[in-house]
Amino acid sequence: MKHLRILLLSHSFNSLTQRIFVALREQGHELSVEFDVNDNTTIGAVELFTPDLIIAPFLKRAIPEQVWCKTITLIIHPGPAGDRGPSSLDWAIINNEDHWGVTLLQANEVMDGGDIWGTANFPMRNNSKSSLYRNEITELSLSLTLTAIDQFNDPTFTPTPQQTLDSISIKGGLPQKLRTINWGSDNQQQVLRKLNSADGIPGVKVNLYNRELFLYAGSAEESINGEAGEIVARSNDAICIATVDQKAVWIGQIRDKNSKTPFKLPAAKVLKDEISHLPLVDNEDEIRYEKRGEVGIIHFSFYNGAMSSDKCQKLQQAYLKASAQQIKVILLFGGDNYWSNGMDLNMIEASNMQSESTPAEASWENINAMDDLTLAIIENSQQITISAVHGNCAAGGVFLARSADLLWAREGVILNPHYKDMGNLYGSEYWSYLLPRYAGSERAQKIMGNRLPIGVEEGKRLGLIDESFATSHQQFIEESIERAHKIVDNTDFEERLKRKKARRSADEKRCPLSSYRTTELENMHKNFYGSDPSYHIARYNFVYKVAKSRTPLTIARHRRKGYRSE
Ligand code: COA
Repeated sequence: MKHLRILLLSHSFNSLTQRIFVALREQGHELSVEFDVNDNTTIGAVELFTPDLIIAPFLKRAIPEQVWCKTITLIIHPGPAGDRGPSSLDWAIINNEDHWGVTLLQANEVMDGGDIWGTANFPMRNNSKSSLYRNEITELSLSLTLTAIDQFNDPTFTPTPQQTLDSISIKGGLPQKLRTINWGSDNQQQVLRKLNSADGIPGVKVNLYNRELFLYAGSAEESINGEAGEIVARSNDAICIATVDQKAVWIGQIRDKNSKTPFKLPAAKVLKDEISHLPLVDNEDEIRYEKRGEVGIIHFSFYNGAMSSDKCQKLQQAYLKASAQQIKVILLFGGDNYWSNGMDLNMIEASNMQSESTPAEASWENINAMDDLTLAIIENSQQITISAVHGNCAAGGVFLARSADLLWAREGVILNPHYKDMGNLYGSEYWSYLLPRYAGSERAQKIMGNRLPIGVEEGKRLGLIDESFATSHQQFIEESIERAHKIVDNTDFEERLKRKKARRSADEKRCPLSSYRTTELENMHKNFYGSDPSYHIARYNFVYKVAKSRTPLTIARHRRKGYRSE
């Protein structure tokens, strides 16, 4: 295959851009990334890198003419051929489309009007915009991109002009008024559709208790009902609102943009004073245990993969409870979108508004809770634990997953096994034990220093992932359970457990786990309480979504000193 110099031009290094970055790097192409923040920066990047081809996975602006008229620039549009304009997926969900698509367009002077290099459709799934984007849209975008690279190298290929299409549909952004919930007439499914369509950003605007709030993370509730539009129950984190068809919806997250914490937080925490009189229901959505023969399965799914102290403690309790059962294997299934993204940075940012503690204290508590959970998994000598990772994983979440005896990943999963992007955090979760143990010391340093996303193939080569299989979530879950049963049934199970215990006690003799934890936490203490505010600034910028003005040099290789001689 001919290796190309490819520039990824993107508003941010989001999950789709990372997936394409990882796949193209795996194919041996020379890659660099530039955040498309203004014309001059983008033009400058193209001049420095002189790419053969530009791919734009995620844009919020039109590409300057100076760029697309010199270099073929392919834009990934999350809609079928002929669909044009922003909020494409939002429209598809709100209009209840049964199919949607992805189209690869060559940039020209008409926004989304360029020639088509490839297009593919998929059946819509009744789920949130973020989930469709991180799954169907991402998979199809990648396969169209890989095909387009072959087409780029094929002198006989010509893209299809949009004039040949039967119809063109040009839409603007989806206005809030079309997202408005009419509690008096919208049934449960209609309410959920509006929530799904606005998931991630911007959320559905409502007025509750005379507060203008944005709602996110909707899910169905069949057995609670009440007056439509009324909050009728609460769980630890979520609130339950009745719908007109004698059903209800749970709302997981709320953003109150006029408050001192104008970012997403668990709904029941935002409204805690107003709803304290309501019945407390255990909606058991986030952590669920099931036993299949001698395999114990813990399903957990935390919004955006963020694990607050409270969630870490609950998961630890569930894990310890499972390990006290008559089972041989424990499977840990995280969520579809994310397995874990480590500490809950929003809850930490909100700590001094929501509770008495400072962000430094809340960070300290959260990292200790992550460590306690990780330790419980490492120290389990009764069962084989398997992290079955089918959503992406980052920072402490990766090392939490690696604390299990085996790490299985769904094809296409992306890991970000590093902390330094968050204001130079040192990191904990026993990474300084786990990473050298599985990847070797030299690679461990590189992984932490490179700060790059890692796909399953590289993850396996590095020892971070043991096995990968299946592309669909359902298939991955079923196959993981099947494989877990094979481990139980294997005649060498007891031997395997003995080997595991022997390895652990040899490792403990060499250097106790407590010593790794002490060193990591000493460094984290400096990050949280020391004179360098980098972590607090980085967390603030992350939570408040302050756009990065410069592309990090870890991915913008054209901006590194001496790049040409690299
Ligand atoms: N705490 C709180 N929210 C988090 C989070 C965390 N640890 N990690 C991700 N999120 C949220 C983002 O704010 C975003 O929120 P939104 O729904 O309002 O848009 C959402 O999850 C998706 O994140 P985004 O960055 O847009 O998605 P991505 O898939 O492109 O990137 C990561 C994923 C994990 C690489 C990136 O979110 C990240 O770096 N997270 C922080 C990891 C970290 O440093 N954890 C703490 C140290 S242990």
